[in-house]
Amino acid sequence: MELSQSVALVTGANRGLGRHFAEQLLAHGAKVYATARNPRRVTVPGAQVLQLDITDSASVAAAAAAAPDVTLLINNAGILSQQNLVTGDLDKIRLEMDTHYFGTLNAVRAFAPVLAKNGGGAILNVLSALSWMSYDGVNTYAAAKAAEWSLTNGIRLELAGQGTLVTGLHLGAADTDMMADWEGDKVNPADVVRAALAGLEAGKLEVLADDWSAYVKASLARDPGEFYVQTFSAS
Ligand SMILES: NC(=O)c1ccc[n+]([C@@H]2O[C@H](COP(=O)([O-])OP(=O)(O)OC[C@H]3O[C@@H](n4cnc5c(N)ncnc54)[C@H](OP(=O)(O)O)[C@@H]3O)[C@@H](O)[C@H]2O)c1
Repeated sequence: MELSQSVALVTGANRGLGRHFAEQLLAHGAKVYATARNPRRVTVPGAQVLQLDITDSASVAAAAAAAPDVTLLINNAGILSQQNLVTGDLDKIRLEMDTHYFGTLNAVRAFAPVLAKNGGGAILNVLSALSWMSYDGVNTYAAAKAAEWSLTNGIRLELAGQGTLVTGLHLGAADTDMMADWEGDKVNPADVVRAALAGLEAGKLEVLADDWSAYVKASLARDPGEFYVQTFSAS
């Protein structure tokens, strides 16, 4: 993926990681569609601004029609509802799945033909270390991110024939609004986006943006009892 030649569309580009994606892609020389549920909140000089709510099929279709030259889709939009599975609010739990899984799927289905027409291009899905682990208090987010990870692997197979690179980005905690209440260590969101874009340029299928993501991924080869007991009794 040659970023300087790319036409990127970023979901949730009004703040957080999405805004960094839009700004850094512009700095690489890309044309950028910076999209948001409320486009008036997008303040990225040089970007083309579009309305896009990934949970609204009509909004996704309109964005795909308005951006027919896209070669790089950044599925960044997300929410964190801080719910658990057994006692959490079911409407919030559904919205998390509607956003991370069905919303990302909406965007993929709308833009796959656009990418095919423009030579294949690439899709980057912003996943999480929580795609691979659960954490008491945010278990419904982890389930939605696990579903999005599986989606990422599935569409990679389905879109290989049209030459679309599909990359998954995993990170622990980055310093954005989403993690404002988290008191542990947080990485700089600009560094996460730099790692993601370097991975795309290198044609990587997966980018681990921080040590925590690499640690959690490595833990999957171990007995779950070891990971959950050792990691969380030590913290
Ligand atoms: N920050 C972290 O530590 C962390 C860790 C792992 C993964 N992630 C993932 O990174 C991505 C970006 O998160 P962030 O940290 O930048 O969060 P953030 O600062 O809370 O920003 C979230 C963005 O997603 C947008 N969004 C939410 N629902 C949407 C929808 N239905 N349609 C379109 N846009 C929507 C928000 O728009 P509004 O302004 O309209 O709400 C906002 O622009 C998410 O997928 C998140 O799960 C973040």
